[in-house]
Amino acid sequence: MSDTLQLDKRQRAMLAEMGVRVWTPIEQAPEIHNAGPSTIQTKKSQTTTAYQAAVNATATVAVKPTDFEVITQTANNLDWLGLREAVTSCQACGLCTSRRNVVFGTGSHVSTPDTKNEIQPVDWLIVGEAPGENEDAEGEPFVGQAGQLLDNMLRAMQLSRTGEFLNAPKPAQSIFVTNVLKCRPPGNRNPAPEEVAQCMPYLERQIALLQPKIILAMGRFAAQALLRNSIDKVEAIPLGKLRGQVHRLGNTPVVVTYHPAYVLRNLPEKAKLWADACLAMATLNTTQL
Ligand code: URA
Repeated sequence: MSDTLQLDKRQRAMLAEMGVRVWTPIEQAPEIHNAGPSTIQTKKSQTTTAYQAAVNATATVAVKPTDFEVITQTANNLDWLGLREAVTSCQACGLCTSRRNVVFGTGSHVSTPDTKNEIQPVDWLIVGEAPGENEDAEGEPFVGQAGQLLDNMLRAMQLSRTGEFLNAPKPAQSIFVTNVLKCRPPGNRNPAPEEVAQCMPYLERQIALLQPKIILAMGRFAAQALLRNSIDKVEAIPLGKLRGQVHRLGNTPVVVTYHPAYVLRNLPEKAKLWADACLAMATLNTTQL
């Protein structure tokens, strides 16, 4: 005899009313548990988001998946527009209640939702910490003072994240700029570990689709998030010890540097930011030979 709790519709409704969730065991689950990740991609016209579809699909099996597992499973199978849509509608952590805009990221060749769903490998992926007030308001990364410093640095390297270049030929190298967190932590507080964990599958999918030739990780949250599986106890290593060298995320070289906002508060460190950018540029140019 099955030891599964037998509940009728009314009892289930009562439990739901009390906030008690009942997970249906696998034998009783309807057909939908066959819905593999590849079936949960959504088109713009569908009202169900990729994230919600995954939650619905997994809600019918006996083992309750964590939000993290749902997001990872979902993100791993999304194409670029599907990923953008999943990120934009994400409600996996509390930041969704205070954000004004989700900041997916922008780049010189994949910048708008209208961009075709074809993704070309990028040369540079630049990863910051999280949107601040300005980014939250505008839905784009690095639009405040830290962004100005980043843009100045890129200009000095003959790069441009918009693909536009004043009085010069189009930059030869493409860039995508994003953050570890896609939503602003209230009051610009530090990202919480669980927020980073929830958001990482999105960054990982961005990396898988963009196939950057070099990643520049700006600040300790970006460095720790990207190198957590490559360097033992990376969170215990000061950023000053991680910068100035080339790390690896799989086969992709990663250069760590100070966050531009930190540099704005500590101007003598600007030379190190520039040195790290030059190291990244040299690494990229070497791998292209
Ligand atoms: N700081 C970041 O880390 N990211 C932004 O987008 C803006 C400020």
